[in-house]
Amino acid sequence: MKYQNAIFDLDGVLVDTAKYHYLAWNKIAGRLGFSFTQQDNERLKGVSRMDSLKILLSIGGLSLTDEEMQRIAAEKNGYYLDYISRITPDELLAGAKEILVFFHSKGLNVSLGSASKNSRLILEKTGIAQDFDCIIDGNCVTKAKPDPQVFTQSADRMQISYCACIVFEDSVAGIQAAKSVGMLAVGIGDPQSLRQADKVFPDLLQAKQYFSHYLTESY
Ligand code: BG6
Ligand code: MG
Repeated sequence: MKYQNAIFDLDGVLVDTAKYHYLAWNKIAGRLGFSFTQQDNERLKGVSRMDSLKILLSIGGLSLTDEEMQRIAAEKNGYYLDYISRITPDELLAGAKEILVFFHSKGLNVSLGSASKNSRLILEKTGIAQDFDCIIDGNCVTKAKPDPQVFTQSADRMQISYCACIVFEDSVAGIQAAKSVGMLAVGIGDPQSLRQADKVFPDLLQAKQYFSHYLTESY
C-alpha cells in the first residue's frame, strides 16, 4: 500500500496533554464530590469535551441540567487552559517532531485529527503548527470520535482514499474511528487497551523506526 496521508491525534500522541485533561476533570469530580481514577479517564480519551462530561457524570451517578453542564464544561476548560498556557516544546512526546519531519521527507501529507478545540494554541506553544498540511480539530467537526469525521475530512480535502491514510491514536474511540473507514490504525500506548489497533507501539520513536523500514521496502 502506498500511503499518502499520515494523520495524528494530538493529546497523548504528539503532546503530553492527556495528563492535563485528567487533572482538570479530576478537579471537577472532586468539587462534585466523587472520585475519578486514571482508569476511568481512559474512557474520556479522544472524546469531545461535552461527551467527556457526560461520561464523568455517569461515573459519579449525577444528572445535571444542560445549563449546569455548559457551566461545568467551561469551568473544566478554564482549569485545562491554566495548564496548557504554560506548555513549551519540552512537552512534545518522544519522537513527535521527528516523525512529522520523517513522513514529509517520504512525500506523505501530514494532518492533524484531534477532537480538541484548543489544538491551535497547543500547536503554537509547542512549535509544530508549521509541520501540518491540514489541521482538522474539534472546531471543524459536527460528530466526535468514534465517528471518523475528524479523520475523513483531511482525506476528503486532499482527495486521498481512506485506505491510503495512517492514523496515530492513543484512544480506543480514535482507533475505532480509523478502522471504521479502512484507515491503518496505529495505537500509541498500552497494547492491551489499544488491542483493536492494527499495530501498537509504546511511543512515536518506535513507530517511526517501523515505518522507516516499511516505507523503504515498499516505496
Ligand atoms: C481530545 C482529548 O484530544 O480532545 C479529550 O483526548 C478531550 O480528552 C478532547 O476531551 C476535547 O478537548 P478540548 O481541548 O476541546 O476540551
Ligand atoms: Mg489522544
